[in-house]
Amino acid sequence: MMNQNRRQMLGRQYTVPSPEIYPFQWFWDSCFHAIILSHLDIAAAKAELMSVCSRPLPSGMLPHIIYWDEPGPENNWGRELRGDVITQAFGTQGTSSLTQPSLAAATLHRLYTLDTDRSLVETLLPVLDRHFTYLAEHRTFGDNELVYIINPDESGEDNSPRFDEAQGLPAYHSAIDNLEKRIERMHQNTSCSFDAKQCMSQYFGVADSTFNILYYTDLLAMADLFEIMSDSDNAHRYRTRADQVQQALHTLRHNGLYYSFDHVTKKHIEVRTWSIFLPLYAKLLNDVEAQTLVKDYLCDQTQFATPYLIPTTAVAEPSYDPQGGFWRGPVWHGANWFIYHGLKNYGMDELAETVRQSSLDLLGKSGFREQYHPMTGEGQGAQNFTWGGLVIDMC
Ligand code: GLC
Repeated sequence: MMNQNRRQMLGRQYTVPSPEIYPFQWFWDSCFHAIILSHLDIAAAKAELMSVCSRPLPSGMLPHIIYWDEPGPENNWGRELRGDVITQAFGTQGTSSLTQPSLAAATLHRLYTLDTDRSLVETLLPVLDRHFTYLAEHRTFGDNELVYIINPDESGEDNSPRFDEAQGLPAYHSAIDNLEKRIERMHQNTSCSFDAKQCMSQYFGVADSTFNILYYTDLLAMADLFEIMSDSDNAHRYRTRADQVQQALHTLRHNGLYYSFDHVTKKHIEVRTWSIFLPLYAKLLNDVEAQTLVKDYLCDQTQFATPYLIPTTAVAEPSYDPQGGFWRGPVWHGANWFIYHGLKNYGMDELAETVRQSSLDLLGKSGFREQYHPMTGEGQGAQNFTWGGLVIDMC
């Protein structure tokens, strides 16, 4: 699978998530790929990370898509919708103008621990530093350290019900209606020339729980990487920022769960998606809180305990749509991987093993698909989709 989806272009090597539907390079996908490849071929893992970090925007922000090749009838997916319109306005060639959650620093740290390649860290650390500096300077409000996204796609969960209310969508709606709203957001983003602060206040600004929790874990990894490079000033700078973000993350806690926060309506977004379990991954909870979260939600059949684990939206949510709902119910291997490691962090090994087994069962039953029906295990969406490879890292 990883070999089949590997591409070489303009001196770079990367992996496409799915040859037919996703023929470009995506930011968090490539972090997943590097994690998978770290078990198989460390040189390829490094090449993947180098490639995805090779096209920062002038602001320093790492884009969520790099369109390596020229557009054509075969590979025009999303380009006309997401790429060129925005790219032109933002003055960047060959990339999108949005970002995605970063696991890049944590992934780089992982690769470093495997063979202590300092030159890789030396090359990528300044690129990542610019990305996180951009986020801290342009995606925050006042002295609140939380980072805001300007478009649902930046969460990595394009049509998640977390963004329905902010976009004026009802809990149940068609995929086309959802896409139209996100394109509307892109035109708004373009109209304010991607001045993020303006976009965030005027149109759409969400302190997304997934994005911010992964931002926090990557800031910690940045501090560790600077320490490895014996740069104690920058290590201290990142450690301090990580502490501030950790404090700010507490403000996302509302009625016992970590929810996203909408800057425009000034409200928590009380929709239960798999993201409520990410605090386990980032070790934000004490043991009692972790046990309660798991008992009340992960092990409850009216919430997330479906025959195939773990649905991306709780069964009890009105937006739950397991048949083709994309991020509105179907199981994604990426979410399972985060939750597996979150459970391991709290010593819940048995449950973690159940999640791993469910991921394996889905691969056995339906192969490497983009998502799966949480009740039947039927595959949905893209074929030959790479994320299933993450089970190799559930160990
Ligand atoms: C979809 C997913 C997103 C992923 C992309 C490429 O848009 O929602 O998370 O990065 O596909 O796989």
